[in-house]
Amino acid sequence: MKITGRTFIISGGASGLGRALAQDLVHNGANVALLDRNEEDGQSVAAALGGDPVVKFFTVDVTDTGSIQAAVQGTVEWIVKTSHKPLGGVIPAAGVGFPGLVLDRHMKPLSLDQWDFVLNINLRGTIDLVRQVLPYMAGAGDATGAGGPDSGDEDQERGVVIMVASSAAFDGQMGQVAYAASKGAVASMTLPMARDLSKHGIRVVTIAPSLFDTNMTAAMPDKVRQGLVKSLEFPVRPGRADEFAALARHAIENKMLNGVVIRLDGASRMPARL
Ligand SMILES: NC(=O)c1ccc[n+]([C@@H]2O[C@H](COP(=O)([O-])OP(=O)(O)OC[C@H]3O[C@@H](n4cnc5c(N)ncnc54)[C@H](O)[C@@H]3O)[C@@H](O)[C@H]2O)c1
Repeated sequence: MKITGRTFIISGGASGLGRALAQDLVHNGANVALLDRNEEDGQSVAAALGGDPVVKFFTVDVTDTGSIQAAVQGTVEWIVKTSHKPLGGVIPAAGVGFPGLVLDRHMKPLSLDQWDFVLNINLRGTIDLVRQVLPYMAGAGDATGAGGPDSGDEDQERGVVIMVASSAAFDGQMGQVAYAASKGAVASMTLPMARDLSKHGIRVVTIAPSLFDTNMTAAMPDKVRQGLVKSLEFPVRPGRADEFAALARHAIENKMLNGVVIRLDGASRMPARL
């Protein structure tokens, strides 16, 4: 999928990996609909990236299906009325980490509230955004100009879904049962989703980053962070958000990447505990 001249929808776009990708795509000629629950940061990132008609911010809580629907419809209207750059892809990057042992030292099991909080954002929020965008990418937007393949594209590609898992999908650490479940499920959705969508000319790629420098990891206690850094192979540092963005951009551009989960981890495997 050519990036220039297209519109991409990114959730979690106010910070970290989503923000870096928004910046990268805008620099490469795309428009971005930026979705986040953090309105203040979202508005300021959108303004810093050029504002309307290049970047439009929508306040969205991905656990609220109505707010996703409003943002998707708002994006389609924005494309049709103002920006005229058809939908190219959706990147659900909103996510949270919320550590909790499945059984703590007081014999208290993981609370279902905590489980639901993580799964609702990381998993349900991912599929809900993707599923609401899909009809427009698959053809319902063609008549309005909100979707459709590039003219002259021999493959008639209509769009790309880039999901964000984590190395916790494969080597989750102590306290990551809920987070690992949410990311493992995202990884597992990748192939069947690609198979479902192949007849519509839509590809699906999931990126599974290890430790990356963002607000999410800045919240970690120093000791935990240092322990994680020590477990890295090469390079011996957290990834940078622009390195995530570079891979996501490549996945958007390279049509042969489909139905695959790509680890972005510098050969690191997370230890059981720190
Ligand atoms: N940073 C890492 O080391 C790392 C590693 C592996 C995977 N990830 C994943 O990458 C994704 C992005 O994380 P990040 O590191 O950029 O974190 P971040 O905290 O910098 O950004 C996450 C963004 O998601 C938004 N968000 C959270 N809950 C939301 C909700 N309910 N509705 C809408 N927006 C919501 C936040 O407001 C924030 O802007 C997440 O899915 C995360 O699990 C991050």
